[in-house]
Amino acid sequence: MNNDYKRYLVTSALPYANGPVHIGHLAGVYVPADIYVRYLRLRGRDVLFIGGSDEHGVPITIKARKEGVTPQDIVDKYHLIIKDSFERFGISFDIYSRTTSEIHHKTAADFFRKLYDDGKFIEKTSAQYYDEEAGQFLADRYIIGQCPKCGNDSAYGDQCEKCGSTLSPNELINPHSAISGSKPVLRETSHWYLPLDRYETWLRQWILEEHKEWKTNVYGQCKSWLDAGLQPRAVSRDLDWGIPIPADGAGGKVLYVWFDAPIGYLSNTIELRPNDWEKWWKDSDTKMVHFIGKDNIVFHCIMFPVMLKAHGGFILPDNVPANEFLNLQSDKISTTKNWAVWLHEYLDEFPGKEDVLRYVLCANAPETKDSEFTWKDFQTRNNSELVAIFGNFVNRAVVLTHKYFDGKTPQAGTLTAYDEATLKELPAIRQAMEAHLETYHFREALKEAMNLARLGNKYLTETEPWKLEKTDRERVATVLNISLQICASCAIAFEPFLPFTAGKLRYILAQNKADWEQLARTDILMAGHKLNEPQLLFNKIEDADIQKQIDKLNATRTAATDEKGKGVVEPQKTACRYEDFLKMDIRTATVLEAERVPETDKLLKLKIATGMDTRTIVSGIAGRYTPGELIGKQICILANLEPRVIKGIASQGMILMAQQPDGKMKIIHPEERMDNGAVVN
Ligand code: MF3
Ligand code: ZN
Repeated sequence: MNNDYKRYLVTSALPYANGPVHIGHLAGVYVPADIYVRYLRLRGRDVLFIGGSDEHGVPITIKARKEGVTPQDIVDKYHLIIKDSFERFGISFDIYSRTTSEIHHKTAADFFRKLYDDGKFIEKTSAQYYDEEAGQFLADRYIIGQCPKCGNDSAYGDQCEKCGSTLSPNELINPHSAISGSKPVLRETSHWYLPLDRYETWLRQWILEEHKEWKTNVYGQCKSWLDAGLQPRAVSRDLDWGIPIPADGAGGKVLYVWFDAPIGYLSNTIELRPNDWEKWWKDSDTKMVHFIGKDNIVFHCIMFPVMLKAHGGFILPDNVPANEFLNLQSDKISTTKNWAVWLHEYLDEFPGKEDVLRYVLCANAPETKDSEFTWKDFQTRNNSELVAIFGNFVNRAVVLTHKYFDGKTPQAGTLTAYDEATLKELPAIRQAMEAHLETYHFREALKEAMNLARLGNKYLTETEPWKLEKTDRERVATVLNISLQICASCAIAFEPFLPFTAGKLRYILAQNKADWEQLARTDILMAGHKLNEPQLLFNKIEDADIQKQIDKLNATRTAATDEKGKGVVEPQKTACRYEDFLKMDIRTATVLEAERVPETDKLLKLKIATGMDTRTIVSGIAGRYTPGELIGKQICILANLEPRVIKGIASQGMILMAQQPDGKMKIIHPEERMDNGAVVN
């Protein structure tokens, strides 16, 4: 660890403003970055934490086209949602700005112009697909055709989503434009390229020799890129959304989004500190750290450093602690499939539980390999760690102090060997936390904080002060004093991880502010110091709340299948003889009663008046109809279907439904009400 740094410039990847953020973003980038900056601030270091939205790029234009709005409408909407949810979640940015800001456009354009003037680019002409009807070049995503690998008819120019292959547009069979549907033609266009290959020797030295301390996943990815050999990379695009290229003959061209976005860190710093931004970006005693996800490694470790180096005058990142990916309930998080837990929804559905999610995402962060979020684990960690250990310890210590000492910190008497052994662990925990936090091992650091709470909880359980009140009041005073000092250390140790809880705990302990230097001390609270009333730090999370979330996720799976079948028609079945059709006894009937079949998602038990009798039919339509919607409805049933036992219930017949391949299902009923038992044929 190098402590010679005077200031810390901490950045976190600018999320694309084409959707809200989900737990994958949080676990990979924002929770670790926030822990780090909160820790640095607690230690009194000079820190800037830079964030913002990434508002350019092709996916935003595609989303806008799909929704019939402008790209600006899209980014305005999501920038606000993202910014607001980060704020509510306690991500403590010093600035959260956006790449459509005027200052960013100017900063990025100037950056490009400097490299351009200094001759750092090469210009190359190549043939790209052009849509003659729309009058524009087509980004890879805008070209659709047949996948050469699997035959899927709607593969994109950069990827087939069916078989997962990476493609280039000229591999597509029968390519057509996603904009006009017309067949695109190849047309010459020229672009500026950053010749990454010319920086290879320098990069090898800077990363592979001078930054062996980078995380193995990051170092390894850099090494394999470098070993494979770098290629010049285009930094311009033929697109009408982005920052116009400030050069002659660049009409209709904008900066490649990965050229402008990282410059956002710089422009946001300038916006925040117009008068002294330079020392943050140019002084070698600034430590710059980029928090990102693993898909961003090449851009932050290779491309952006080359840009900074080519420009000259800027510092380079000291570290890029990229995380791997977080999976959700055994599947990859997918925005398009809506397989995600969205932050803004979590905040609405679990008010006051920001820290529970922060805790789980840190305890389980994908620091060295992909990890997994499950709702069950979320519940267990809340109930058996936060509630049962941390919350329980603090609550007991504070409640007992109110009960026996009128809420005033009692004076400690003589310490026993056990007291001393307990207190001796405190500095060791602090040291371990520091070592882990300075080296981006946040899971381990959090474990140590939890060990502190665990230590206090065990201490109280073993000393049992509630049994001594009558016989040895001085001993009770000592035990509670020590317990309260550990509580006060917890309020400091947890501040980076669980800032809402740490704040609540400081309020209970009547402490104004946290100061890392006090952590592990045994005199944080003076004798006689009056506490505030106790309140619970955490509450148990019930099975029903968890089940609700699991059901909600599973419902997105059904919705996704629905989406797939849209517009498709089932092929006709083979011919059937009229006599065979007549064997089916189809009748009108009315639903008298309906109820869910317990422990199933789909089944309803219906009582049906058939005109001939009243009978029970079990039907798998609970996902589509509620019992209330069905009662009184006239329907058609297949009356003579052989009775079947479903979930222990005898079902006599079947309800006729029309069903689309996308899953949409509706009940068939006569045009107007008829007597029950009318024959359908
Ligand atoms: N928007 C990118 C993503 O979500 C990250 C951009 S990071 C920056 O993958 F450096 F370019 F800003
Ligand atoms: Zn394919």
